[in-house]
Amino acid sequence: MKLMKTVTFSQFGSAEVLSLVEQPIPQPNEKQVLIKVHTAALNPIDYKIREGSSFVAKKLKDHLPSSLGFEFAGEIVTVGENVKTLKTGDEVLGLAGFLKKPCCYAEYVCAMPETMILKPKKLSFAEATCLPIAGLTALQALQLAKVKSGQTVLIHAGAGGVGHIAIQLASSSGATVFTTASEHNHDFLYALGADQCIDYHQKNFVNVLDRVDVIIDLVGGEVGIQSLEVLSLSGCMITVPTITAEQVIAAAKQKHLNVIGMIEKPNMKELTYLADLASNGKLKVEISHLFKLSEAKSAHEILESGHTRGKLVFKII
Ligand SMILES: NC(=O)c1ccc[n+]([C@@H]2O[C@H](COP(=O)([O-])OP(=O)(O)OC[C@H]3O[C@@H](n4cnc5c(N)ncnc54)[C@H](OP(=O)(O)O)[C@@H]3O)[C@@H](O)[C@H]2O)c1
Repeated sequence: MKLMKTVTFSQFGSAEVLSLVEQPIPQPNEKQVLIKVHTAALNPIDYKIREGSSFVAKKLKDHLPSSLGFEFAGEIVTVGENVKTLKTGDEVLGLAGFLKKPCCYAEYVCAMPETMILKPKKLSFAEATCLPIAGLTALQALQLAKVKSGQTVLIHAGAGGVGHIAIQLASSSGATVFTTASEHNHDFLYALGADQCIDYHQKNFVNVLDRVDVIIDLVGGEVGIQSLEVLSLSGCMITVPTITAEQVIAAAKQKHLNVIGMIEKPNMKELTYLADLASNGKLKVEISHLFKLSEAKSAHEILESGHTRGKLVFKII
């Protein structure tokens, strides 16, 4: 039996619960493919699962140990007998076990063909693995809010994984983009298309902005609730962190404001659109750190500090 390295945890807790172990390489069923993972991105939901606070952790609690991670980029090495759309050697990016059975912090992963797309040649594996979650979330949040040219859009946490992609998409749709970020990230965000960056450590955005048409809230909680003060009466706010969404939506209802929560949908047509943009240089995917799987603990400590610029990625090959 061939073994692979994977990061797992057996109990909820701090980054210390993560360990690198050897396990049998999973075998694809007749409808799946086996992927040799080159890169796997980290997302805040990973540490929320690890610590037990995410809704996914509730589903997993009787099924530990578990790995983490829902997105990968890699190469197909085995194809199930009923799979007709992909072949061995194809380079792909996509989602595996999405919101059910995290599995991508690993050297190999099994997934269904309909949850992946072919990787454009010009797109690196590291960039590719950041698109299925951060990219789709940014795109779908802006679509849900129906952002259009001429509107004003406030994007909280603009320097983060979702935020830096949302800034570029909103700016290219012709909207005026305001964003909150620490000052050392401002030049980076202006270069991506932000029109005004607000250092949230120095100034409260409610004292800086007039009412805006759209808010993409990537912080949630008190920041989401405060944001209602600058949302236009006919505007729309998407509050993305699921843990505080109910609380923010309840506050919005009292003020008769339109606030929507969301959970990203694995839409491969939209993923292809993002991958094409990125491979043609029209979307920049910022990667601030590459880690080995053996560095999972320190990667999680950086992830949960909440101040990542762009994305954190495991480089497995
Ligand atoms: N519902 C869904 O389907 C879905 C999908 C993806 C993500 N999410 C959630 O959306 C949130 C954002 O995800 P992400 O991947 O973009 O996170 P991330 O990359 O970890 O975000 C890090 C960024 O947050 C910024 N930040 C921290 N506190 C802030 C504050 N008070 N005001 C403004 N910016 C602040 C930091 O900016 P500075 O370093 O500049 O200070 C940093 O750049 C997370 O809660 C995540 O779980 C939900």
